[in-house]
Amino acid sequence: MDKNRIRTNTLRERKQAGEKIAALTAYDYPTARLLDEAGIEVILVGDSLANVVLGYDTTLPVTMEEMLHHTRAVTRGVQRALVVADMPFMSFQADPGDAIWNAGMFLKEAGAQAVKLEGAGPVLDTIAEMVAVGIPVMGHLGFTPQSSHRFGSQVIQAKTDEQAEQLLEDARALEAAGAFAVVLECVPAQVSRLVTEQLGIPTIGIGAGPHCDGQILVFHDLVGLTQGYHLRFVKQYANLADTIRDAVGNYVRDVRESSFPTPDHSFFMEQGEFQKFARSVRR
Ligand code: KIV
Repeated sequence: MDKNRIRTNTLRERKQAGEKIAALTAYDYPTARLLDEAGIEVILVGDSLANVVLGYDTTLPVTMEEMLHHTRAVTRGVQRALVVADMPFMSFQADPGDAIWNAGMFLKEAGAQAVKLEGAGPVLDTIAEMVAVGIPVMGHLGFTPQSSHRFGSQVIQAKTDEQAEQLLEDARALEAAGAFAVVLECVPAQVSRLVTEQLGIPTIGIGAGPHCDGQILVFHDLVGLTQGYHLRFVKQYANLADTIRDAVGNYVRDVRESSFPTPDHSFFMEQGEFQKFARSVRR
């Protein structure tokens, strides 16, 4: 056992010590390696894979096979961070037996340390069963993208007293079912502060204000690779879209002008050997 490895109980210890938890999504090996080297505690192979990498409009179409494929790539690049795999739409809602099997595949075949799944009420028993058979579960409340058709244009959740009560009740129920942490997405900052205070397990916020025990963002939003929209809760730390466009534009120009490749980028045959070859070709 690697003593530097982040584990589910490390997150609870960080909450108790008042130390914040930094989490990001990753979907591939090189990104996962970089995030791990940069000191991220939690890497989520989010089902946002569907929108961010595969080009779908929602998270609903992404499949178990696709999630397993990308989780394998991520776990190959990670030595320290806790890798959590997101359970895709309809991989856990319909049948508890299938849900446990699918969750187990993320640990057994893809090397993740935990799974995340959206919602509470109807899936609480399933979560408790997963935990009982040794599968650590992260919950996800507030705006849960797999229910985006139900939410419609209502992105910010728990805006009324009644809804905030329900959110707190769901969060407590997730903790009681054995979840080791819970993502709070698009929840008013005052609500997530109270929920965070009430729980023994860490809250990981996205659009849920500064008082959560940790924060998560979609990697592509953080580095400026998602285009065409701006989310208020995202802080963009780099503009890789411009960097990549410039780099590729320069490459296209160099190829067209024959200024790439130069001798420095080329391989050469020993001169005598080449002369023999040239003579035989020109004979
Ligand atoms: O899929 C995802 O990226 C997520 C995070 C936004 C929490 O669920």
